[in-house]
Amino acid sequence: MKGLFITFEGTEGSGKTSVIKKVEAYFRASGLDVLVTREPGGIRIAEKIRDILLDKANIEMDPRTEALLFAASRRQHLVEKILPALARNELVLCDRYVDSSLVYQGIARNIGFDDVYAVNKFAIDDILPDRTIFVDVRPEVGLARVFKTPNREVNRLDLETINFHKKIYQGYLDLIRKYPDRIVRIDGEGTIDEVALLAIRAIEPLVKRGMSK
Ligand code: TYD
Repeated sequence: MKGLFITFEGTEGSGKTSVIKKVEAYFRASGLDVLVTREPGGIRIAEKIRDILLDKANIEMDPRTEALLFAASRRQHLVEKILPALARNELVLCDRYVDSSLVYQGIARNIGFDDVYAVNKFAIDDILPDRTIFVDVRPEVGLARVFKTPNREVNRLDLETINFHKKIYQGYLDLIRKYPDRIVRIDGEGTIDEVALLAIRAIEPLVKRGMSK
C-alpha cells in the first residue's frame, strides 16, 4: 500500500485546522513523512480557480458553476499535490475535500448530494480518503467560537448564519450515516490536545497497518 490519505471536515469554528497541526507534529515525531495541505494548496491553476470562487464581484455565480469550480480546483490539487505525495508513501492530511462540497454545495446550496457527487466523481476519479475525521462541534458552540464576543447582539444576519450553520452541521451528520466506514466522528468540544488525541487514535491503526517503516 502506498501512503495514507486522511481528510478533516467540520463546520466553521470546529478548530480542525489547529487539530491538524497537532496531528502533523505527532506523526512527524514518530518518523513519518507528512504532507499537510488544503485546497487549492498553492497549486497555480487551483489558486486561479479559487480566485474566481472568492471574488465578491461574482454575485451572479450559479450554484452549479460554484460546484463545478470547486471540483475543478480539487482535481488539480489532487493530481499535482496529493497523488504524488501518496506515491512517495507519505501521510497526507488534507483540510477539507469532497465532503465539503457534498455538504456546502449539495445541501446548503440545495443542489443535492447525488448531483454534487456525480460532478466530483468525474473530478476525483473515485479517489476517496482512507479515513475522514469529522470534528464534531455543535452549531451553537462553533458559532460562539467564531463570534467570540459573549454579549454580541444577535441580528438578522446572525440568525441567517445560525440557520446556515445548522444546515451544514446536519448535512455532515447525514454524510456520516451514508459513509459509516470512511467517516469517523470525533468530539471536537474538548481542548485542542484532547481533540488531537482522538484524531490520532482514529488514524494510528491505519498507519500501523499500512505504512510501517
Ligand atoms: P476557509 O476560510 O478555508 O474555511 P475553513 O477554515 O472553515 O475551512 O474557507 C473555506 C470555505 O469554503 C468554507 O466555508 C467551506 C467552503 N467550501 C465549499 O463551499 N465547498 C468546498 O468544496 C470546499 C472545499 C470549501
